Parts: sequence; C-alpha cells; structure tokens
Amino acid sequence: MRLSLLKVITWLVSPQVVLGFTNHGQAVIKVTDHEPSTARKVAVIGAGSAGSSAAYYLRKYADEADIALNISVFERNSYVGGRSTTVHAYGDPLQPVELGASIFVEVNRNLVNAVKEFNLSTSSFSSRISTDGPELGIWDGVRFRFTEQSEDSTWWTGAKLAWRYGPLTLYRARALRNAAIGSFLKMYDEPTFPFASLSDTVYDLGLTKFTAATGEQLLKEHGIGDLFADEIVEASTRVNYAQNLNLIHGLEAMVCLSTEGAMAVEGGNWQIFDHMLKSSGATVHLSSPVRKVERLDDGRYVVHSKSSSYLSGFLNTQETFDEIILAGPRQFSGIDFQPELAHVPDEIPYVKLHVTLFTSKHLLSPLAFNLQPGDAVPQVILTTLPPDEPRSNVTDAGLPGFFSISLLRPVVDTRRFRSAQPEYLYKIFSPQAVNSTFLAHILGLKPRKANEIISQRDVSWVYRQVWDSYPYEFPRVTFEESRLDSGVWYTAGMEVFVSTMETMSLMGMNVARLVVDGWKGGMGRKE
Ligand SMILES: Cc1cc2nc3c(=O)[nH]c(=O)nc-3n(C[C@H](O)[C@H](O)[C@H](O)COP(=O)(O)OP(=O)(O)OC[C@H]3O[C@@H](n4cnc5c(N)ncnc54)[C@H](O)[C@@H]3O)c2cc1C
Ligand SMILES: *[C@@H]1O[C@H](CO)[C@@H](O)[C@H](O)[C@H]1NC(C)=O
Ligand SMILES: *[C@@H]1O[C@H](CO)[C@@H](O)[C@H](O)[C@H]1NC(C)=O
Ligand SMILES: *[C@@H]1O[C@H](CO)[C@@H](O)[C@H](O)[C@H]1NC(C)=O
Ligand SMILES: *[C@@H]1O[C@H](CO)[C@@H](O)[C@H](O)[C@H]1NC(C)=O
Repeated sequence: MRLSLLKVITWLVSPQVVLGFTNHGQAVIKVTDHEPSTARKVAVIGAGSAGSSAAYYLRKYADEADIALNISVFERNSYVGGRSTTVHAYGDPLQPVELGASIFVEVNRNLVNAVKEFNLSTSSFSSRISTDGPELGIWDGVRFRFTEQSEDSTWWTGAKLAWRYGPLTLYRARALRNAAIGSFLKMYDEPTFPFASLSDTVYDLGLTKFTAATGEQLLKEHGIGDLFADEIVEASTRVNYAQNLNLIHGLEAMVCLSTEGAMAVEGGNWQIFDHMLKSSGATVHLSSPVRKVERLDDGRYVVHSKSSSYLSGFLNTQETFDEIILAGPRQFSGIDFQPELAHVPDEIPYVKLHVTLFTSKHLLSPLAFNLQPGDAVPQVILTTLPPDEPRSNVTDAGLPGFFSISLLRPVVDTRRFRSAQPEYLYKIFSPQAVNSTFLAHILGLKPRKANEIISQRDVSWVYRQVWDSYPYEFPRVTFEESRLDSGVWYTAGMEVFVSTMETMSLMGMNVARLVVDGWKGGMGRKE
C-alpha cells in the first residue's frame, strides 16, 4: 500500500527524488535544485498578512532589480490568511463572516492599495439594522454610560460626544492621535524605510513617548479627561485588543482611535493575502507545518516540513533556501532551528481571546442590560469598567464579563427551506468561553440549569474559536529586530508595537526590501 502510493507521489513530483523512509515509515522527499543557479530561493513560513505581503513585495522588488527569484510559502493551516479568516454562518458558503481580523481603515496604505490593485469590493459599516435601538452603547456591567444613535465612524464629530466630553477633550485627543499616526506613517517611506531596527526607528520617529506610557498615562499627560479615557478610549482598547487602558501602551490606544474610513473586503479580508500570494508567483504549500530549519555549512538553510495531502497522508519534505522569512510569532511556530538562532525572540504573553459567533431569531434582551422592557438594546455593545471597580492588572473583562457583543447583520438560515425566518448574526469577544447560561441571559430566555444546552430554536448556529489573538501590549521601548540570524528574517517583532493586518503587512514589506537590498548590495549571502 505504502509503496504503490509512493510511486504515485514520485510521478506527481517527478523532478523530485524520494530519498527513502523515515523510521516512522513516512516518505522523505528531497526537492532537487533545478533552478538556474542565479535564482535566489526564499522560504516564507506563514501565509498570514506578514508572510503574504513579504512574498508579494519580494517579487516586486526583485523584479524591479532584475533579480531571478523563487519563493516558497509554507503554511501550517489548510487556508491562507492566518488570523484573517472567515467561517460560514450555518455552514453556508454564501454567508461568510470574519472570525479574526475584521476591519482596516483608510490610512492602511498597503491594504488599501492591494484592494485597488486586485479589484476587491469593500463594504463600510453603515449597514444599519432597523432595531430602533442606538447604533452603539458603552456598557459597564451596570448601565450604559454612553449611547450613540446614529452611524458615525469617527469619535470626533457628533454633538453628543462634544456635549459629554467637551470640545477641548475631543480636540486634544484628536491632535494626539494625529501626531502618533502621522509619525507612524513615516515608516513607509524613505529615509525611514526600510528599517533594520524597529527599536531605533520608533525612537527616531519620536514614537517612544507613545509606546513607553500606558494609554491612561498618555491621555492624562495630555490633559484628556478621565471620562473620555474611561469610556471612549477604554471601550476601544477592549474591543480591539481585549485590554484595559491602564495596561495597553499609548500608541496602541491611539491606533484604536483611528476608525475613520473603516472597511472590510466583501467575502473576507483573507482574499487580499490570497491575491498577494498569487501575484507573487510563490509556490504555496498549505497544511505544511515547518518543523525544522537547519543551517548548512555554505550558509544556506534546509527547511523540513511535513505536508499532508489526501493522497499521501503525511510527507516529510526537505528543500534548501538562501533566505528564510519567519512570518508569525516564533513562540507558536514549533520550529527547531539547528543551530539555534543567533538571536532568539523573547517569548511574550498573548491574549487568549474567545470569539463566539451565533445566530438567533432573538434580539438582545433589554433586561439583561438593565433597560426597561420594550427598550431597544444597542446594536454594538462595547464595554468599560464601572467607576468603582479597581482597574485590575489582569486579563479578564471585569464586571461586564465580556469585551463586546455585536449584532453584525440580519441573516437567513438557508438550511431550512420552508420556514426561513429572519435571524440575526452576533459576535462576542470574551476572555472565557461563552456558555448557554450566558447566551440565555443576554437573549432574555428562561433561566437554565447549569450547562443545559440551549435550544436550536433559540440559537440556531454557534461557532467558537479561541485565538492567541495578539500580544498584551504592555508599554515598552525596544522591539525584536527584523533579522534573527544571517539569512533569517522575522516579522512578528512588530506585533508588540502595533498588531494589525496593516502593520504586519508593512513588516512583511520591510523585510522583503531588506532582503532584496542585501542581494543588490552584493553583500554576499553569508558572512
Ligand atoms: C479575533 C481577532 C480580531 C482582530 N481584529 C483585527 C482587526 O479588526 N483589524 C486588524 O487589522 N487586525 C485585527 N487583528 C489582528 C490581526 O489579525 C493580526 O495582527 C495579523 O493578522 C497578524 O498577521 P501575521 O501574518 O503577522 O500573523 P498570522 O496571521 O498569525 O500568520 C502567521 C501564519 O504562520 C503560520 N505558521 C506558524 N508557524 C508555522 C510553521 N511552523 N509552519 C508553517 N506555518 C506556520 C500560521 O499558521 C499562520 O497562518 C485581530 C486578531 C484577532 C485574533
Ligand atoms: C521554484 O522552485 C520550485 C521547487 O524547487 C519549483 O517546483 C518551481 O517550479 C520553481 N518556480 C519557479 C517559478 O521557478
Ligand atoms: C472590478 O470588479 C467589478 C465588480 O466587482 C467589475 O465590474 C469590474 O469589471 C472589475 N474590473 C476589473 C478591471 O477587473
Ligand atoms: C498588579 O500586579 C503586580 C505584579 O503582578 C502586583 O504587585 C500588584 O499588586 C497588582 N495590582 C493590582 C491593582 O492588582
Ligand atoms: C457561564 O458563564 C458565566 C459568565 O462567563 C459564568 O459566570 C458562569 O459561571 C458560567 N456557568 C457555567 C455553568 O459554567
């Protein structure tokens, strides 16, 4: 059985040579070098925003410099996109919903350019559902501190905001945000770009003053009122990063206030990264975790990966590359570098975020949010801590018990042909698993016995995911370097600076530029 399968595999990969079996009886395939010796070979490990962008810009820069290039992308998952991925409501492919990164904004240059280049359609978030309720509410576990009736994707306009927080507070907060983002945007262009050292760049651009302080300290220093900080800014850091304002650094807090021109790719943001990979001409290996990266005496690297396919079960493959780009957090990669890297990135704590998607014919219950019966509940519920709750160090959501609950859109259960009644699609971000008791509570259903399964008539579809979603963005002034060793590059140092699809794309682009500049400079591959 094994042998005949192996023959099939050998035909399929005819330029490759089967070396033999491992002691587990698995075939080992060695990919032979049949490239012209001038083509540079790069392995990108990870097909998320960073890896796909690295591949895309590598191709672009190499073409511009007339350098022959061959890119292979290894991805552990069976899909492209990493933390940008969709699942399908009711399992219906026509009803995709973002499970991870859901929005980007108009200042996100790489993503916006890619959307244009690949002719992808985006939607903004103006699709208001007629629930009569406010568009948005900030809930502290006791009451709504702030509600906004109408759609408004900025925090700066609207009479209600000015009235509650004061025009001066809004003015100062916006100026501070603009200063931070303005400095950050210099990272895309010369003379800052490309940057070998993120730490030096952050310092040179004056961004250290934003990253060294907590969001709370930064706002205080700039005379921005506590009320605005506790409500608007903290609600934003909690929904975007599952972190309170007294722990998250000031730059990430400013990023959370940059909501102008929020958009998403229709059908899923992952399509940006899929198009980038296609455009790069890379050979993409899905379901192919890299296990080991071994340095050869000539300075090149052998990438050992295990690919699974329906034909072969598991195949161990080995391929030799000139450069390696590790495009995901080292600590979750499970890669054994032999010898150990000259610089091993520090392990950092990541948020464990529970994302729960579900559909129901019910709207949220006003009683669950201390409103009067018949009152409409806000469509998007952000959270903050109540005034008397000590700002905790910790990772939980405090009194509200969750970070956000959003009514995303009306949906129809296409599995039921006859009684396709309108339902609603919801998304919850929380630090713990959402159980039936909690769902019954927010939907205003009868109290249930502990752990009793909620009826499918009430909640027709549920999807749960636990992510290592992003790092705890504690204040800091130093960051991992882009180069971990001669010929080994790293993108995830960017994540403790700002973790977004765009910043990770920027880092992929940066590494691509550094790699190609290295070739152009004829600096020689290795020391
Ligand atoms: C729930 C959630 C909501 C978010 N919301 C937003 C948002 O609205 N807007 C926004 O901009 N950002 C958002 N983010 C953050 C954003 O998703 C990340 O910052 C960004 O997608 C990270 O991209 P990346 O390429 O660096 O990492 P990833 O997307 O994690 O990609 C790394 C890839 O490497 C692969 N990999 C790792 N090890 C190996 C190996 N050994 N072999 C092969 N492959 C390997 C992984 O499988 C993964 O696919 C959100 C994140 C989460 C989880
Ligand atoms: C790149 O290399 C791989 C493996 O060696 C090979 O299969 C592929 O054809 C090459 N691609 C290009 C575009 O040269
Ligand atoms: C871009 O997409 C739109 C619809 O999505 C289509 O009508 C149009 O022809 C496309 N243009 C190009 C250049 O592909
Ligand atoms: C925060 O954590 C530190 C160290 O873990 C601890 O010393 C301190 O007491 C904590 N503060 C609060 C408010 O819980
Ligand atoms: C259900 O979740 C709530 C809120 O997270 C929690 O307080 C409660 O203990 C959980 N109940 C059970 C039975 O696990």
